[in-house]
Formats: sequence, C-alpha cells, structure tokens
Amino acid sequence: MAAGRPGGNRKWALITGASAGIGAVFARKLAREGMNCVLVARRKDRLEQLAAELTRDHGVDTRVLAQDLGVLEAPRKVLEFTDAEGIEIDTLINNAGYGTHGEFCELDADWEMKMVDLNCRALVGISHMYAPRMKARRSGRIVHLASVAAFQACPYMTTYGATKAFVLMFSEALWAELKEFGVHVTALCPGPTQSEFFAVAGLGDPSTTKVGALEPTEIVVERGLEALAANRPYVVSGIGNWIKAQSVRFVPRWVATTIAGFLLKPGRRTQPPAA
Ligand SMILES: NC(=O)c1ccc[n+]([C@@H]2O[C@H](COP(=O)([O-])OP(=O)(O)OC[C@H]3O[C@@H](n4cnc5c(N)ncnc54)[C@H](OP(=O)(O)O)[C@@H]3O)[C@@H](O)[C@H]2O)c1
Repeated sequence: MAAGRPGGNRKWALITGASAGIGAVFARKLAREGMNCVLVARRKDRLEQLAAELTRDHGVDTRVLAQDLGVLEAPRKVLEFTDAEGIEIDTLINNAGYGTHGEFCELDADWEMKMVDLNCRALVGISHMYAPRMKARRSGRIVHLASVAAFQACPYMTTYGATKAFVLMFSEALWAELKEFGVHVTALCPGPTQSEFFAVAGLGDPSTTKVGALEPTEIVVERGLEALAANRPYVVSGIGNWIKAQSVRFVPRWVATTIAGFLLKPGRRTQPPAA
C-alpha cells in the first residue's frame, strides 16, 4: 500500500451489495470500527460516493468494484481484483441479493434464474474464494444474508424463499467446518427491513402498502455484527421475527406453507411479508 494512504495498517472488509440498504450500512459500521472496505455492486456512482464518505468520516482506505455478481465468472473476478490490489480480506459480508413477488408461473424466468445465480451461486463462489485463506490464517469472519424467509416455504416468493433456505443451511454447515480454525460464520436472518428490497421485489412502497413496520437497517446490522463476534451460526433479527421463525417448528410443514401463502398472496397481504 502506498505510504500516506488513509487506513494504512487496517484490516479489510469486503461487502457485496454495498451500493444500497443493508450492505451500505454494513460498510459504514465496519468503517466506523476502523476497517478498510472493498465495496462491490453494479452501481459504481453509488459505491464511489460511499467510498468517499467512509474515507472522509472514518479515515479508512476503500476500493470500489463495479461488478454484476449474477454472472458466472463474478466470484473469480472479485478475487482477482483484491489480489491485484494486494488486499487480504479479514471480513466478508456476502449481502448482495434480491427477491421477486408474484405467481411463480407469471414471473420472468430469467429473473428467477438470475436470482438463484446471485443469492446462491455467487455467495458460494465468493465464500470459496476467501474462506480457504481465512482457514489457513486461522482467522476471519463471514456474514451471509439469509432471511426469516429461510425458515418455511414462501409461496408467491417461491424462488426467493428457497434461495434463503439454501443460504441458511450452507452457512450453518460452513460455521461447523470452520469454527475450529478460528473463522466465524454467521447467517443474518432479518425480517422486513428498511432498504430498496421491496421496490426491487415489486412489493411497492412499504409506507403505502400493508407491509407494516420495517426494522431500521442499523439495528439489523448491529445484531448481525454482535452474532458474528459471538460466532453464532445464525441470528434472527428481532424478537417478533424470532418467534415467527421458530413457530413453524410446532405445526406441520404444510400448515406453515399454507399460512405463508395466505399472507404473501398478491393483494391479500395483511401482515408484513417474509422478506
Ligand atoms: N430488506 C429486507 O427486508 C430483507 C430481509 C431479509 C433479507 N434481506 C437480504 O438482505 C440483502 C440486502 O438486501 P437489501 O434489503 O439491502 O436490498 P437493497 O437495498 O435492494 O440492496 C441490494 C444490494 O444488492 C446489490 N445487487 C443486486 N443485484 C446485484 C447484482 N446482480 N450484482 C451485484 N450486486 C447486486 C444492489 O446493488 P446494485 O443494484 O448497485 O448492483 C444493492 O447494493 C439481500 O440478500 C436480501 O435478500 C433483505
């Protein structure tokens, strides 16, 4: 690293989906803790704006990578980028993701498949780029964004719910594999949270629909970082969401699926949807 750069001897975090919502807040919190940040998403202008803010407010070093993580070669491109910069990643926040809402048969097939590529394939790939090095160093931290949608099937957010169930199972297994090597892995499972998620998913403006109160992004991220520090395999953000996530264990799976379908059916929502 060039002499005189900000953030000279600090550890590095890599945050995917840092251009908005939960990812941007992770970047701000980690920078406040003194970490340099590699910011990844597609909207370069947003990333550059955030990078400038982090350096100005916290004196940390930053790098920006504008990359569509839904393409097959993305994980290797991310690793090539950090290697070319001579950066070792201490903390990986695998956060980029999106959902869709509607009848599966009516949703765009390419958009559904790309969701699997981003929410699952890229997350596995990027983990695999950095986890072996963390294991070898016997230190490192990984957060994966799952969701309360991971705990039961989600009709009308069918593919999304399945991707988040994948993320939760994948993260818990990785936690078990890596804990003896000093590498922390946590799946963060938020309920509905303030971000651009609902607009992207076609769920509308939460303030004008029946989505209900959204959790503040800062609180969700704080809970994720606390769980990561304690090396908890997963954390559900908020007691209400935790009760909802656990309650599905006490009824037959088809009952939980039917209730979720009732709540998520377009036009029939009366409570916050699983996000
Ligand atoms: N908000 C919620 O209620 C909620 C609840 C549970 C879980 N989550 C999960 O939390 C994570 C973050 O979502 P959010 O709520 O913060 O939503 P958001 O505000 O829409 O942010 C999504 C982020 O992902 C990035 N992204 C989307 N597609 C991408 C692609 N193909 N390549 C690279 N980056 C991409 C977006 O950046 P660009 O558009 O610039 O690429 C953006 O930075 C997601 O995994 C989501 O499933 C959200």
